[in-house]
Amino acid sequence: MMLHIPGVLTPDQVRQLRSRMTPEAWIDGRASVGTQGAQVKRNRQLAEGTPLAQELGSVIVRALTANPLFFAAALPLRILPPYFNSYAGGEHYGLHIDGAIRTPANGGQTLRADVSTTVFLSDPEDYEGGELVVMDAYGAHEVKLPAGDAIVYPSSSVHRVNPVTAGERVASFLWTQSMVRDDGQRTMLFDLDQNIQKLRAQVGDNEATVGLTGHYHNLLRMWAET
Ligand code: NI
Repeated sequence: MMLHIPGVLTPDQVRQLRSRMTPEAWIDGRASVGTQGAQVKRNRQLAEGTPLAQELGSVIVRALTANPLFFAAALPLRILPPYFNSYAGGEHYGLHIDGAIRTPANGGQTLRADVSTTVFLSDPEDYEGGELVVMDAYGAHEVKLPAGDAIVYPSSSVHRVNPVTAGERVASFLWTQSMVRDDGQRTMLFDLDQNIQKLRAQVGDNEATVGLTGHYHNLLRMWAET
């Protein structure tokens, strides 16, 4: 499932994050990938595990975990400290797949990457190109969202970032291990949850909505690892 989550960060939060990213904080993005990724990755990122990356990352994690749509879609068990990247002057990240198992730079707990999230920190009019392109069974999906918005997609998808031919594209990126490993099961739970909420808004709580809520939780009980 790909899901657009609007307004994860307020414009003020975006401005504050961006103001902390001084030019000297950026390093070569190839520091964090394997040999296959290094062949196609051309961007800059904030060094992992530094106090700056941790501080800015905690703003992103707090905002996402407080967001009901993110919670319902990702069902997060563990979140790897977010990365921050910048693309300018033709930089891009060619077609690749993210590694399944990730360990934080500062030696924290290893996690399995189930859900990938990009939080846009530049507005679309600030740069040319730079679309995140995610492939799935329905084709290639181009994503370019307002600053503060996020896109969530399965970490199992092949994807790329198109060259940024003018301006600068700054984004945060993170991996989540979900309580529900399988994207199909997560999608079913998300659909059920969203439709129960619509129904409750229309008719209030009754025996049927309580029954459906019970069904949601019983599926979660069957599928979740904690
Ligand atoms: Ni990637």
